[in-house]
Amino acid sequence: MRICVAKEIKPQEYRVALTPAGARELVERGHEVVIEAGAGEGSSFLDDAYERSGARIASVDEVWESAELLLKVKEPIASEYGRLREGLTLFTYLHIAADEPLTRALVDSGISAVAYETVETDRGALPLLAPMSEVAGRLAAQAGAHYLEKPKGGRGLLLGGVAGVSPGRVVVIGGGIVGYNAAVIALGLGAQVTILERSVDRMRHLEEVLHGRVSLLMSSTLQTEESLKEADVVIGAVLIPGALAPKLVTRGMIRSMKAGSVICDVAIDQGGCAETSRPTTHDDPVYTVDGVVHYCVANMPGAVPITSTKALTNVTLPYVEAIADHGLEEAVRRDATLAHGVNVLAGKVTYRAVAEAHELDYVPLADVLPGAAAAV
Ligand SMILES: NC(=O)c1ccc[n+]([C@@H]2O[C@H](COP(=O)([O-])OP(=O)(O)OC[C@H]3O[C@@H](n4cnc5c(N)ncnc54)[C@H](O)[C@@H]3O)[C@@H](O)[C@H]2O)c1
Repeated sequence: MRICVAKEIKPQEYRVALTPAGARELVERGHEVVIEAGAGEGSSFLDDAYERSGARIASVDEVWESAELLLKVKEPIASEYGRLREGLTLFTYLHIAADEPLTRALVDSGISAVAYETVETDRGALPLLAPMSEVAGRLAAQAGAHYLEKPKGGRGLLLGGVAGVSPGRVVVIGGGIVGYNAAVIALGLGAQVTILERSVDRMRHLEEVLHGRVSLLMSSTLQTEESLKEADVVIGAVLIPGALAPKLVTRGMIRSMKAGSVICDVAIDQGGCAETSRPTTHDDPVYTVDGVVHYCVANMPGAVPITSTKALTNVTLPYVEAIADHGLEEAVRRDATLAHGVNVLAGKVTYRAVAEAHELDYVPLADVLPGAAAAV
C-alpha cells in the first residue's frame, strides 16, 4: 500500500504521524512510504532520516493526491478540505463530534476517516489517547514546580524542599492516566502527593503501584475543600467519558488557597474542572485568579513534540500496519478495537456520538461493511 504522511499545518503543531523508525517497519513489510518534505522537522526528524529508512520525500500535492492511506496527527483544517476524496483512508486525531464543518466535508468527500481518539478496546480503554495523557500528566507536575517559583508569579517554594525544610504539597484530582503520571513526577521531585479519586478500585491499584508513597483519598466536595487549603500545586485530571469535566473546584475553593499556589487544569480540553479555568496556549500559558496561578494549556503535549511524536507513533504503528497489510475493510473485520475508530465511511457517519452531535443519520459500521464489528 502507498502510505503517505502529511506535514501538520495547524498553528503550533510540531508533531508528525510517523517516525523514521516507523517508516522503516512499513518499508520492510513491502509498503511504499512517502513523506511530505519537512513533515518531521518540528520533531527533529529531518527528511534524510526518512530517506535512509527507505521512504521517499514528496510535495504536499503528491502526498495528498497519491496516498491510499494518509497519516496525520491533527484533523484537516478548512484549507485541506478540498484534498479529501473517495479512495483515501485518513488516520488521524479527528474530534469531529465538536466540528460540524469537517464532519460534513468528510461525509461529502466519500473518504474513509478513522479517528485515533475513538479506537477503543473491549474494556473501554483508548490506546491512542493514553500516551498523550501520560505526557500531559508528567508535564503538569513540571509546570506546577516551575510556576511555584517567585519570578514566575508563584509562592517562591521549591517543591522538593531541602534537608530540614518541608517539601511542597501536590493535590491531584483524578487518579487516571494523567493523575498517575503527574503523581510519579511530583514524587520524583520530592513533593508530598495526595490523589483524590472517586473509584475505590482505581485507588487500590494506585496504592499498589505507587507502593503507598501517596495519600489516596475519596474525592468529595468537603475533601477537595480541605485538601486545596493545604495545597501548593493542584493538578486537575478528572475525566467523565463523553462529558464535560465536572466543576469540582469552585471559585470559593480557589479563594481559600494560598497566595501564589498553582493550579494546572489538565482537564481543560474537556472544559476544565475548576470554575476559574479557561484555555490558554503555550505562548501565554498562565493567568492569575484570586492570587492562584492558573496553567490551562489545552494541548500540553505540543510543548514536547519529540517525546509526543515518539509516544504517539509507538501506539499507532500496529494499526497502521494492520490497515496497510490487509486494507481497511479486512483490518476492521479482524479487529473490533480498530473498528471503533471508523467515524466516516463511504459518505456515512458510522460513529453514533458524531451523528448525534450533528443530527446526521447514524449507520452502524456493520451495515456498510458486513462482518465488521459494530462501532459505538
Ligand atoms: N490539556 C491537555 O493537553 C490534555 C492532554 C491529555 C489529556 N487531557 C485531559 O486530561 C483529563 C484526564 O485524562 P485521563 O486520560 O487521565 O483520563 P482517565 O479516564 O484515565 O482518568 C480520569 C480519572 O478521573 C476519575 N474521576 C472521575 N470523576 C472524579 C471525581 N469526581 N473526583 C475524582 N476523580 C474523578 C476517574 O475515576 C478516573 O480515574 C481528560 O479531561 C483528558 O481529556 C488533557
